[in-house]
Order: sequence, then structure tokens, then C-alpha cells
Amino acid sequence: LKIGVLISGSGTNLQALIDRIDRGDLNARIVLVVSSRGDAGGLKRAARSGIQTLALSKEIYDADPWDADEVIATEMRRLEAEYIIMAGYMRRVHEPLLALWPNRIVNIHPALLPSFPGAHAIAEAYARGVKVSGVTVHFANADYDQGPIIAQEPVRIRQDMDLEAFEAAIHEVEHRLYPDTVQLLAEGRVHVRGDLTVAIDPR
Ligand code: GRF
Repeated sequence: LKIGVLISGSGTNLQALIDRIDRGDLNARIVLVVSSRGDAGGLKRAARSGIQTLALSKEIYDADPWDADEVIATEMRRLEAEYIIMAGYMRRVHEPLLALWPNRIVNIHPALLPSFPGAHAIAEAYARGVKVSGVTVHFANADYDQGPIIAQEPVRIRQDMDLEAFEAAIHEVEHRLYPDTVQLLAEGRVHVRGDLTVAIDPR
């Protein structure tokens, strides 16, 4: 499966995908990593693995977020990306990408959606004192953090956990669940049924 990955930050989820591909148990190839920031740590991870990168400037996004998505779409098409994997990408995706990859743009969110959408999910869940949160992998659509859910895994918040320990537990699950889910896509086992329900073919 040819995938393009969108990042904005340290890229530990990108690294988890790279590691699983290198180990031979994720049947995918990363054809391009796009960053919404020039200083994203994930760009170095991509370069170290010989993956082509593209860093878009803040100016492009500020001028018109649709233009940024046009640039991304052009490159992803040229490199024949079948799926676009958002891994800590802190921008929304718009029509130029959504129209060309319908139900083929995937995001990972560090909470059990629809609880705690938005950019501060881990801290908000912790501050709210919930006993269970978790990780969601979902398709991106025009409604931010509201697309069809592909996979979810719970993470318990034990009372001896500080915020850092909870964050670490979330990331540990992310780094396993995301490659697992991309592998399901590679095997063609993920189907959107109706608007919001996803079915996974059994093995
Ligand atoms: C992850 O927790 C992801 O769920 C969230 O942003 C974080 C990205 O981390 N949307 P990284 O850049 O993959 O290290």
C-alpha cells in the first residue's frame, strides 16, 4: 500500500509506522512525508529513512489553507499515494484532499472520540478525571474529529498516574494501534458502511 504521511511535530507515530515497515510486518511504503512546519522533528526521521519530504510554510497555510492542500494533493497524486495518514498533523484537511481521497484520509486522535475532540485531548481527559480514555483511529471528513471510526482502544487512568504517565500510556497504544490499522487498510479489510459505521473483515 502506498501511503503519504502528514505531520506537524515530533513524528513518533511516523516512526512507529517506519519501524513496522522495516520489520516487515506492515505491508506499506511511505511515498512522501509532508510537514506543516519546517522544524518538525518528524522531518529528520523521514530523511534518516530515505523518505521524500515536503515542508510547507506557515505563510502558505495563512494565505489560504486550500492552497496548501492543493500543493499536497498534487504531490500525493504524482507519487500515487493510495491513503493519506495524518500523524500528529495539526491542520485541518480541506476539499482539495477530501475530494480526491474520500474515506482514504486517516487520522489518529489521543482520546475516545466523540469525547475530547480538539488539540488538547490528553490534558483535557486527565483534568476531567475520567477513568478511561484511549486512542481513536478514524477517517477524516469535512467535520473535524467526526469521521467514521475505524479502531479504538481504551487506556485506563489509574489514580497513581500523573499526566506524564498517562501521556506515555496513550502514546504506547498509539504506536501499536496505528500500524495495526494501516495494515488492515493494506489488506483491504476496512469498509465504510453507511455514513459513520466501519466494518472490518475478519481474517
Ligand atoms: C499524537 O498524540 C497524536 O494522536 C496527536 O498528536 C500527537 C503526535 O505525536 N494528534 P507525534 O508527532 O506522532 O510524535
